[in-house]
Amino acid sequence: MKIVQVAGARPQFIKYLPVSSAIRRHNCRPGAAFLENILVHTGQHYDYSMSQVFFNELGIEEPKYHLGVGSASHGSQTGQILVKVEEVLARERPDAIVVYGDTNSTIGAALAAAKLGIPVAHVEAGLRSRNKEMPEEINRVLTDHVSTVLFCPSRAAVENLRGEGFGNVMLNGELISVDPGEAVAAHYGESGTRHKTGISHPLVCNVGDVMYDVLNIASGIAGEKSDILLRLGLSSGQYSVLTIHRAENTDTEGKLEEIAAFVNQTANGATVVFPVHPRTRKHLEGLSPKRLFEENVLLVPPLGYFDMLWLLKNSRLVLTDSGGVQKEAYWLKVPCITLRDETEWVETLQSGWNILYKEYASGQGMPAKPGFLPPGAELTSYGDGDAAGRIVGALMEIFSKENF
Ligand code: UD1
Ligand code: UDP
Repeated sequence: MKIVQVAGARPQFIKYLPVSSAIRRHNCRPGAAFLENILVHTGQHYDYSMSQVFFNELGIEEPKYHLGVGSASHGSQTGQILVKVEEVLARERPDAIVVYGDTNSTIGAALAAAKLGIPVAHVEAGLRSRNKEMPEEINRVLTDHVSTVLFCPSRAAVENLRGEGFGNVMLNGELISVDPGEAVAAHYGESGTRHKTGISHPLVCNVGDVMYDVLNIASGIAGEKSDILLRLGLSSGQYSVLTIHRAENTDTEGKLEEIAAFVNQTANGATVVFPVHPRTRKHLEGLSPKRLFEENVLLVPPLGYFDMLWLLKNSRLVLTDSGGVQKEAYWLKVPCITLRDETEWVETLQSGWNILYKEYASGQGMPAKPGFLPPGAELTSYGDGDAAGRIVGALMEIFSKENF
């Protein structure tokens, strides 16, 4: 069996890591059918600090194909990815393609595969902000609807897909609802089962979050790998971390100024470390950041993964519009203020570790006891740290030549 996996933006390299490791583990098992794994890098992110640093630090293999797409308008970037991924797929003829998240690389690759009749497996399926002005919302909705297997990170994501009419739903290993038009032969996971999957009869699987898989392992060694506190002269628990890169924040007039004023006020003179995304750097250059942020806000280039995790783990507060960073704050038990009007990661809000900044600014403040868990809630809500193992198991079950 052969799969092509497509990554192109910073968080996708991180999400790819546990899946590629699980494939290696699978291939080492005696008697296991071999899974050939081909990595394609679209080139959407290309600065060393946005791309190669993750390959070097995390030991990710060199991609077999580097498409070199680079930055462009949405249409042009997505279109180039579509054209170039199609060429790769035509040459490789994989049994399935795996795409991650909600970037232009995700939708470009998914569309190329769907139009060639190659099944799409979407990792991080079912997330919704219900804000169609977000480019990511368009990408994730469309990707889900051309996918054959939808790997959800959470129960809320599964429910979103059920609400959109997805019929064949696996939750915690149980087939909980079945598309009436589809004869799903038997329970998924039992040997010898067969799934007739296709775009018209997709399968939704709740597997957990691959980012939690990575964090679980990496946070234990980040302290050995990173000297970020020493480099920046920081003491644990004495500083906050800030990241901003959403188009709605960088490209809306007056929004960066509004956020800067909020950050200045919230920090109240205490240190804030701000690894600046290239999109944001370009916008700040036009705005003169010295006037926006007070001196306690330390602007630094984008960080490697271990530096970022160690920085987050030792911080007292996170302010971010990043999806990945919101979850990492939650898993590392650091209070987070999300610099957006809504979030797809609703479990982080429900747990009390995360709050939307409008609510915080309107006087609600952080909950008195962040970390309070409503009865029945699990802290992770995003699986048990082996989402990638489940993904690989499901891919083999569904697409291996004997079964498909
Ligand atoms: C993209 C994703 C977003 C994801 C983010 C992760 C889309 C629509 N958005 O946003 O969902 O959260 O990645 O970081 O796919 N740039 C550089 N160097 C680079 C990469 C980008 O300078 O290596 C600059 C360019 O000016 C570019 C801008 O950043 O135009 C935006 O990059 P782009 O990949 O289009 O979107 P992101 O904001 O990174
Ligand atoms: N990240 C990083 N260095 C940074 C900023 C973020 O390694 O300077 C990591 C972060 O820890 C998380 C991922 O990148 O694992 C999140 O990516 P990003 O915020 O770019 O995108 P999003 O998750 O919002 O799609």
